[in-house]
Amino acid sequence: MQSNRARREMKMKGLILSGGKGTRMRPLTHTSAKQLIPVANKPVLVYGIEAIVAAGIEDIAIIVSPETGGEIRQAIGDGSRYGASVTYVPQDEPRGLAHAVLTAEPFIGDSPFVMYLGDNLLQHGITPLVDEYRSTDCNSEILLTRVANPSQFGVAELAEDGTVVRLTEKPAEPKSDLALVGVYMFDRNIFDAARAIQPSKRNELEITDAIQWLVDHGFKVHPHIVKGWWKDTGKIEDMLEANRTVLDTFEREVRGTTDDASRIEGKVVIEEGAEITDSVVRGPAIIGCNARITHAYVGPYTSIGNRCVVEHCEIENSIVLENSTIAHVQGRIEASLIGKNVKIARTHRKPAAYRFILGDNSEVGIT
Ligand code: DAU
Repeated sequence: MQSNRARREMKMKGLILSGGKGTRMRPLTHTSAKQLIPVANKPVLVYGIEAIVAAGIEDIAIIVSPETGGEIRQAIGDGSRYGASVTYVPQDEPRGLAHAVLTAEPFIGDSPFVMYLGDNLLQHGITPLVDEYRSTDCNSEILLTRVANPSQFGVAELAEDGTVVRLTEKPAEPKSDLALVGVYMFDRNIFDAARAIQPSKRNELEITDAIQWLVDHGFKVHPHIVKGWWKDTGKIEDMLEANRTVLDTFEREVRGTTDDASRIEGKVVIEEGAEITDSVVRGPAIIGCNARITHAYVGPYTSIGNRCVVEHCEIENSIVLENSTIAHVQGRIEASLIGKNVKIARTHRKPAAYRFILGDNSEVGIT
C-alpha cells in the first residue's frame, strides 16, 4: 500500500465530472451541456477549472458524455487558456460518480487527486482545502456544509469527535443537515472502494458508498465543514441564485459604450463592444461583448450574453445566453433563463396572436 507520506509528495491531478444527463435543466440541456450554462456570463465548468488551477493543479481530466463531449471539448479546448492541460475522458453512460472515477483510473494512475463536480460553484475556491489535504495524512477529504434541504444531497453523519460515521445519498429522512459539497480529495484507495461497491437503487455507483467503504475499511476520511456559499447549479432556480451570488461580487467596469440618455447604476460590467442606448442598467448586472441594449431596462441580477439584443423591453433577475434577441415585450421579464439564439419579439402579423416555437419541456408564463 502507498504510504501517506509518499502520497503527499506526489503531484496532484484534477478530475472534473461533466458527463451526466442534466435532466433537471431541460430544455436547455436538450441541446447543451448543463455545465456550459453561464453564470455571470462564464460557463459553470470554467469556475471549476479556474479553482483547480488556482490550487496549483494543472493536469486535469474532464469526464464527458457521448452527447455533450464534443461541445465541451470545443468550449474548453486543451485548457491552455486557463493555465491547465486538459484531457477528455468519455464515460459511455452516466452510471454514477464512482463509476466516473473508475473510468478515469488510467489518467489518474497513482496520483492523489481532487474530484470536482462540474456543476458546483464554491465562493472561496478550493486552494486552502487542497493545501489542507496535502498537509495531512488522511486518505480522503470531503467537504460538508449545512443546508436546509439535506434530502436533496449526499448527507454525512459525524461522531462527537468529528469523525465520519455514515454517508447516505439523498436520504428520505436525513440524520443531519450536513450535505456533501461536490468537491472531494482522494488517493488511489478510492479505486478499490469503487470496485467493491454495488449499484444503488437508482442503479448508480454512488461516491457516497465508495467513501463509506473507505471509512468501514479503516482509511482516514477527513470532513471539512465549508464556510461561505456553495451552489449546486443542477436546477434552474439554483442557476439564477448562483448568478445573483456571483454578480454581487462584481465591481463596476464599463468597457462598452453608453450614450447620454442612459443611466448605469451600481455594480455593472459592460463588456467590450456593447452599446447601451437610451436605457437603464441597474446592477448587479453584466452585459456581454457586442450586446445591444436599446430603449430598455436591465434590472438587478441579470446577465445578458454576448451579441444579444434587448430593445423596448424590461428584464431583471434573469440569464440570457448569447445571440438572443428580446424586443418590444410588454411587461417585465423576470426570473427567466433564455437559451442561445432565441428570439422573443412582437410581430404585426395577422391574426394578432401569440406564436410559440418552443422545444420540449419549455416553460412560458403569461400574465
Ligand atoms: O452537488 C453535490 C451533490 O452532488 C452531492 O451532495 C451528492 O452526494 C452527489 O451524489 C451529487 O449529487 P447530484 O445528484 O447533484 O449529482 P449529479 O447527477 O447532478 O452529477 C454531478 C456532476 O457529475 C454533474 O456535473 C454530472 C456529472 N456526472 C454525473 C453522473 C451520475 C458524471 O460525469 N457522470 C455520472 O455518471
